[in-house]
Amino acid sequence: MDNYKVPEHIAIIMDGNGRWAKKKHMPRNYGHSQGSKTLERVCEDAFHMGVKYLTVYAFSTENWSRSEEEVNGLMNLLRVYMKDAVKKSKKNNMRVRVIGDASRLAKDIQESINVLEESSMNNTGLQFQVALNYGGRDEIIRSVRKLAEKVKSGEISADEIDEKMFSETLDTRGIPDPDLLIRTSAEQRISNFMLWQLSYTEFYFPEVLWPDFSKKDLEEAIAYYNKRERRYGGV
Ligand code: IPE
Ligand code: IPE
Ligand code: MG
Repeated sequence: MDNYKVPEHIAIIMDGNGRWAKKKHMPRNYGHSQGSKTLERVCEDAFHMGVKYLTVYAFSTENWSRSEEEVNGLMNLLRVYMKDAVKKSKKNNMRVRVIGDASRLAKDIQESINVLEESSMNNTGLQFQVALNYGGRDEIIRSVRKLAEKVKSGEISADEIDEKMFSETLDTRGIPDPDLLIRTSAEQRISNFMLWQLSYTEFYFPEVLWPDFSKKDLEEAIAYYNKRERRYGGV
């Protein structure tokens, strides 16, 4: 189709794993493990459709408040995922980066993240970001601290700080802002995701629960994006 625009950057809040499992009378962690399979498929589908950047919300700074059993389940899933991703990223030429404060994650997970980020650094296929222990407010505060330190040491002056410098201090430095945000499971809130970066993003809230998110759902999200008219404050 002429003029059909594929968003360059899609961000996804992968929500509804718990409700999906509950409907099947299964434990919440079963929903998370199905959800991680869905994610692997969506990475491939998105890339084949022409998406350049994909950023997904996998664990928020608030998700630590869940039961110990659920948090452990999620961390174990992450462990396996990070190890597998080293091979997968090589095979798919995918670059993987983690956004969020990884310092609160277990040491072995932090090490896997480093291996994965370094080994995939020069890959030119899908640019894939996983948000782990990520909070938009936390990211902004960490950036403010870094800039304040630079002002204190005399490296920069306070009035040199502008939007560009601030953006380049965030975890997403070098990555364009998302064009489209998808949040599954019909919840219509951002839950502390990419507060700075979503300023002009189009939002789409399908009812489908994350483990059921299909290629057709992704196509529908892109079709929805095509019906929107982005104005950026103009007319
Ligand atoms: C999203 O699914 C996954 C994470 C937050 C890790 P939920 O676990 O929030 O699923 P619901 O919202 O309870 O259905
Ligand atoms: C947001 O979903 C976080 C992730 C998907 C990782 P939540 O399910 O944790 O958010 P709330 O609690 O509904 O706002
Ligand atoms: Mg949820």
